[in-house]
Amino acid sequence: MDRTVERCREVRLRAYPDGMIQPRDLTIAEAALPKAGPNDLVVRNRWFRVSISTRLMANPDAQAVEGIPFPVLKPGDALADGAIGEVVACPAGSGFEVGGFVSHPLGWRDYAVVDAGSCIALGQGPIEPAAYLGHGWTAYAALTRGIRVRPGDTVFVSSGAGAIGSMAGQIARRLGAARVIGSTSTQDKADWMTTDLGYDAVILRNRGSIADQLKAAAPDGVDVFVDMVGGAQLTAAAGAAREGARFVLLGALTAELNVAGASIVAPVELDSFQLILKDVTLRGYSADRDYAEAFPDWIAWQREAGLHFACSKVVGLENAPRALHDACEGRLKGLVMVEV
Ligand SMILES: NC(=O)c1ccc[n+]([C@@H]2O[C@H](COP(=O)([O-])OP(=O)(O)OC[C@H]3O[C@@H](n4cnc5c(N)ncnc54)[C@H](OP(=O)(O)O)[C@@H]3O)[C@@H](O)[C@H]2O)c1
Repeated sequence: MDRTVERCREVRLRAYPDGMIQPRDLTIAEAALPKAGPNDLVVRNRWFRVSISTRLMANPDAQAVEGIPFPVLKPGDALADGAIGEVVACPAGSGFEVGGFVSHPLGWRDYAVVDAGSCIALGQGPIEPAAYLGHGWTAYAALTRGIRVRPGDTVFVSSGAGAIGSMAGQIARRLGAARVIGSTSTQDKADWMTTDLGYDAVILRNRGSIADQLKAAAPDGVDVFVDMVGGAQLTAAAGAAREGARFVLLGALTAELNVAGASIVAPVELDSFQLILKDVTLRGYSADRDYAEAFPDWIAWQREAGLHFACSKVVGLENAPRALHDACEGRLKGLVMVEV
């Protein structure tokens, strides 16, 4: 195997965050590139995803949780997340080729040594990195496997400007939804959601009663709720549910991005009588469980769907720590991606 690259730069956790994760909690280290084994590819990363779940995994009491595809981080550990890069070297007969693009799980570094079994060949390009790194496929899997959107549905998407939410609203529409409502934090984002993402109405999570805003946006109630937030938004959606409503729960940002400290515990108040009387289905769903089956379907479907891949692109590995902080603070929109 040809091996010319000797060193790499990677982002590591420097110290456990005290409250919100700050750029100073991360550091960029230069290190010797690990020696490639007989089944390893050497990849020059071009783009990687920045996920807010990294904050949860950087907690002192973080635990590996089934369904969360992120490693627990201790000070000194390198961060990891989905990446796309070009193959620099690969074993003969591995099915990969030098110069081809691959997706793999070792972002947050400029070069990676990755087991071939963790890599997916993406061809010679050009490619749309957001289609592979973004959470369109998560939203697609949730809305085609987790629950099903039916023609004419009124759909509510919490965190509708986020990585999953910015795709979920568009996908729901293309699957037949008649009215699509999202939530966000600022009027600026709300305007962008209606003009660029096609939402019919937007609720502001910090601007008065969620229940009252939802009632105004969906006077006849909600058929489908795609929930990334939990808390008061889930309570309000349950109150607005129509007969036979389907809720797919993907995340609990109220707990994950709690300013006081990230938590995996996300209690919520629900009127169980309403759920019973309205025959409401609540499904917790992890798209990773359906990855092998749903991902190729998503890649084919999105080519025809004419989606807007909402993406905040940050250029340079050195700017990645700030990108994570800004994503957690709600300053960015859509998928947050670093171009290395
Ligand atoms: N089940 C699955 O398969 C799966 C897969 C991946 C991720 N997830 C989970 O799904 C959730 C969404 O992931 P994502 O990557 O799409 O994140 P995201 O929605 O892009 O999260 C960032 C956004 O959260 C909002 N936010 C910040 N603080 C908040 C708070 N205290 N309460 C409510 N919202 C807040 C902000 O948006 P606004 O300013 O617009 O409000 C911010 O821009 C996360 O919990 C993630 O762990 C689930």
